[in-house]
Amino acid sequence: MLAKFIWEIIDLVEEKADEKVKQKIYLVGGAVRDFLIGEEIIDYDLLCEKSALALAEFLQTENYAQIVSIHESFGTVKIQLNSPANIQLDLATTRTEIYEFSGALPIAQYPQNINIDLARRDFTINAIALELKPNQEFEIIDIFAGQADLKNKCIKVLHDLSYFEDPTRILRAIRFAVRFNYKISEIDLKLITETLNKPQIQGLAEKIRGIRIGIELKRLLELNNYLDGACLMTELGAWTLLSKENLIINLNPTDLPLPSWQARLAYLLWNNHNLLNLLELLGFEKKIQKQIGFIQNIINQNALNQPSIKLIKEINNLDLDFYNLLFNLRPAWQNQFKLLEKALPQIKPLELIEQGFSGIEINQRLEYLFQENLLRLKQ
Ligand code: CTP
Repeated sequence: MLAKFIWEIIDLVEEKADEKVKQKIYLVGGAVRDFLIGEEIIDYDLLCEKSALALAEFLQTENYAQIVSIHESFGTVKIQLNSPANIQLDLATTRTEIYEFSGALPIAQYPQNINIDLARRDFTINAIALELKPNQEFEIIDIFAGQADLKNKCIKVLHDLSYFEDPTRILRAIRFAVRFNYKISEIDLKLITETLNKPQIQGLAEKIRGIRIGIELKRLLELNNYLDGACLMTELGAWTLLSKENLIINLNPTDLPLPSWQARLAYLLWNNHNLLNLLELLGFEKKIQKQIGFIQNIINQNALNQPSIKLIKEINNLDLDFYNLLFNLRPAWQNQFKLLEKALPQIKPLELIEQGFSGIEINQRLEYLFQENLLRLKQ
């Protein structure tokens, strides 16, 4: 079922809009796909035959929604509904897209006929539109036989150049295949391999599209079965999008859960010397890079063999995700670390002050007690 607010918008336009605003309005993209297969719809993308901005301004005047942002070069507008207030919708104007070179941001030309807009899309299953009509009626527009591919559980692009023009679609194909347990069509497998063999595609993240590749990788790694996605990336050779060098991918199942995509990616890419560089290219936040850099250092230095109170504190200060990352990478350290924690001196710095220690001596004393406890525990 489509959300109530979708029909409210259609009815409002029908009742109150003037000729400038009145136009065909379609639901497109993932929302249609998910509607047709009975999945929960998370994001609604509405497509306007003539002008998304005209619709957005009308909804704002009618006090139905607020305009959040306008993206003129793409003819898109983001709006926020007044009620329910937590809902944001993307409104777009029908457009075609021209890619000047592989991986480029496309140049948009709008408005266009709906069929032309559908033809710029990634997969047949994502290129179905519902023309929304008053009284909760709709018409399915499916010029690429997307419904048949939904039935056959098959991922297919609309034309042979699609992966080359937008190589992030390779990651999207893998994501949809893993998410819905669909297969990528034979022709698409061939197109993907051909695309990945082209020199300009290898290391694309290093050249231009790091952030966009990062976004699609994030969405793939957010799936519960992200390891299946990573395996499929390995099978297809899709890691080459990240780096020209042959990356080593760690596909071992984890012991401890890694809820965030960043920790998952760090786990997969662990054995590569340029890990931090790669993460920077993909748009990782500094705070996360720092934690991963710290883990990398202590593993390289085998730091648990020269333990200190500071080291234990630093490990315990890691976000849970990165704490788990460390012990997934070094499972044998789990018991070793428990022992170190047991050896932490129970005495409070205040008590040491009362005993006459001051300044730097306090930490030195604590460290001394720690090493002493450790020796005892190891005996
Ligand atoms: N799209 C595309 N090529 C891309 C990205 C998106 O053609 N590289 C089109 C597809 O028609 C897609 C729609 O834009 O369905 C919306 O994209 P997006 O929100 O990224 O994905 P969804 O298909 O909605 O999937 P999800 O449910 O994961 O959000």
